[in-house]
Amino acid sequence: MTTTLLTDIGTLVTNAPELGEGRLGVRRDAAVVFDGDVVAWVGDAAAAPAADRAATLGGRALLPGFVESHSHLVFDGDRAEEFAARMEGRPYAAGGIRTTIAATRAASDSTLAGTVHRLVGEYLRGGTTTVEIKSGYGQTAADELRAVRIAGRFTDEVTLLAAHVPPPEYAGRADEYVAMAVGEMIPACAPHAKWIDVFCETGAFDAEQSRAVLEAGAAHGLIPRVHGNQLGPGPGVALAVELGAASVDHVTHVTSADVDALAGSDTVATLLPGADFSTRSDYPDARALLDAGVTVALGADCNPGTSYTTSLPFCIALAVRDLRMTPDEAVWSATAGGAQALRRSDIGVLRPGSRADAVALDAPSYLHLAYRPGVPLVREVFVGGATR
Ligand code: NIG
Ligand code: FE
Repeated sequence: MTTTLLTDIGTLVTNAPELGEGRLGVRRDAAVVFDGDVVAWVGDAAAAPAADRAATLGGRALLPGFVESHSHLVFDGDRAEEFAARMEGRPYAAGGIRTTIAATRAASDSTLAGTVHRLVGEYLRGGTTTVEIKSGYGQTAADELRAVRIAGRFTDEVTLLAAHVPPPEYAGRADEYVAMAVGEMIPACAPHAKWIDVFCETGAFDAEQSRAVLEAGAAHGLIPRVHGNQLGPGPGVALAVELGAASVDHVTHVTSADVDALAGSDTVATLLPGADFSTRSDYPDARALLDAGVTVALGADCNPGTSYTTSLPFCIALAVRDLRMTPDEAVWSATAGGAQALRRSDIGVLRPGSRADAVALDAPSYLHLAYRPGVPLVREVFVGGATR
């Protein structure tokens, strides 16, 4: 394995408290050694070991690659006009998802794979080195199987979003749709996925239907994650906690009982402020969650309806400015928080043994991610130790 020594790092974020200051484990005058695709050493530049190659970062900040734990990339078509109508005052409704279901069903495999490839590339150029990808715009057993297979060409973090919205042929018959998902779709798709997800929301699936889908997924070895409490208060958070879901995502409308339940659980609350931005909705109360001790992840939620962005830096800026997260909290949530939402301890952190996934910024400090909103600060991305 080739070893690479990175020196002249402006500010290093390790997310390993034992390696530096605070929760971000921040170090100055640090150096890092990659050995193949893993981190081999982190310490003071003055004490750095010899390596096969040396690379200077020229005073740039280095941090773990962003970890996106929530995206919907297997789709065709866009909904720019729906977005424009919203900006003129029309509210977002879950039903817009059906527009994308129709376009996705009609698209070829190569068109869908091309879109995933393009968007994963966008994520990467924005510093995101791990992307979870959901199905959910097929909503037949065959179309969801196609989606999870395509997603699996790009990531190990494949989610079967078995119940996104009842498709038109099941209009008014959500229970029958759920029976089909449980009886046909989940058994067919489970070998190609790691996670099972459901949109538990008014206009999508209620608590009972959501539970049936998540339990069927779990019976086939999939781990639950839940879309909940996005458009209004509801049972999503409570259900996620009860079933031990890895995360509950959006959590824009929560009660104090929901916050308490999350605080007493291992379920991560994943905030997706790009969706609140693009639907001109209220933002989640991140402070209430954080101050109660809830583990918070931050994602971009790239999808053609509510959040057509792949930019974690943009979401970090939103989280700091509008959700009142500190820059440290936002950066942690977009890296280590995303990793926790995916139950991964090898990413979102730079310590010996972790994956050599990192991002170098055209800035001396990670603070610039929120301080310089909208500026393409990502200078270099390392995936498994290789520059991409
Ligand atoms: O995460 N909330 C449900 N799913 C997506 C939106 C999907 C769509 O509008 O196409 C989300 O926001
Ligand atoms: Fe989503």
